[in-house]
Amino acid sequence: METRSTQSFIDREARYGAHNYHPLPAVLERGEGIYVWDVDGNRYLDFLAAYSAVNQGHCHPKIVEALTQQAQKLALTSRAFYNDVLGEWEEYMCKLFDYDKMLPMNSGAEADETALKLIRKWAYKVKGVQKNEAKIVVCNGNFHGRTITIISMSSDPDAYSDYGPYTPGFINIPYNDTNALEQALQDRNVAGFLVEPIQAEAGVYVPEDGFLKKAADLCKKHNVLFVADEVQTGLARTGRMLACDHENVRPDILILGKAISGGMLPVSCVLADDEIMLTIKPGEHGSTYGGNPIAAKVAMAALDVIQDEKLAENAEKMGRLFRSEMQAIDSEMIEVVRGKGLLNAIAIKPMDGKTAWDVCLAMKENGLLAKPTHEHIIRFTPPLIINETQMMEAINRIKETFNTFGF
Ligand SMILES: Cc1ncc(COP(=O)(O)O)c(C=O)c1O
Repeated sequence: METRSTQSFIDREARYGAHNYHPLPAVLERGEGIYVWDVDGNRYLDFLAAYSAVNQGHCHPKIVEALTQQAQKLALTSRAFYNDVLGEWEEYMCKLFDYDKMLPMNSGAEADETALKLIRKWAYKVKGVQKNEAKIVVCNGNFHGRTITIISMSSDPDAYSDYGPYTPGFINIPYNDTNALEQALQDRNVAGFLVEPIQAEAGVYVPEDGFLKKAADLCKKHNVLFVADEVQTGLARTGRMLACDHENVRPDILILGKAISGGMLPVSCVLADDEIMLTIKPGEHGSTYGGNPIAAKVAMAALDVIQDEKLAENAEKMGRLFRSEMQAIDSEMIEVVRGKGLLNAIAIKPMDGKTAWDVCLAMKENGLLAKPTHEHIIRFTPPLIINETQMMEAINRIKETFNTFGF
């Protein structure tokens, strides 16, 4: 009989899978709401939620229903033909987010690549930048995915080392620095500013209030597109539908992914108005799976759930509770607690050789899953459906964990 021990699953992945991740040793086989269960039947509070893709909770019945219904009818047509669902989804998105057009893709990285292409096309077709001279301003500490072009913008050696030669045409400036932005915008070949409203992967860095508004205003003044990567911050995670909504900023190009499918399958998209979106003509960009009927139905169900269940309001409320309780923990290991809505992090001061990884291992033993990002930072991003009782349960487990370290 095949062995189903935790170690046997880990060993098999190590033997046959590429070693491009270093997972916590929890082998999960089932999920429901904010909980996941491992192969030994242990239940965990999921405080990662697949890097914010599972905002609606695991296997949300309405999203599962949309998926299974459509999967039995028509899964994929490619864009060589029309299908009877894509237009409905495009209209839904344009009305919900107030844009002229949507372009569907699959992963977040692909949506970011699409935005980069749109910026360049717009530079040449509308702004009048000379051929191949367009530049895009990005921020140090950014994370937009893993493609060669995207890692060419990265300031993280783990992301870019040994993958050169790199794609040219990017100007890196410090995050949260409108003076540096204004200086970069003096270059008339700059066509876009690509920014995360909160730098999540970097360690949940929240810019000063007013940064997004000021950056968007500067872009407008210099005829440069303000492009928001809301793949992780979007869709209610930070307490508003979009993190840009906190400052009433409307990006010229909006990039969405992750929770747009509630964790069911890879779905992403880019939204923009006609002046930008219609610079791309038939045959100039696309994806076999982008805009497939399952993705369309799943995305509409996932967005319905976010609105019907008022997940933005809940994220705002539960986030406040989480941060205030974390700030009250008396542990020298906790350097700082920061975040917005339910996108939060604790920066850990390693003590006696104990690091963020050790804290995550101990939390796992206490029934809560979270993962370090960049060695000393632990990100806490539970599904947004979490209620107060569940949040208090999680808070108590985190507190107990820090207590057991005794610092
Ligand atoms: C802000 C941001 N953009 C893009 C991506 C890439 O998304 P994907 O992993 O679906 O390619 C991520 C993933 O973490 C992200 O956080």
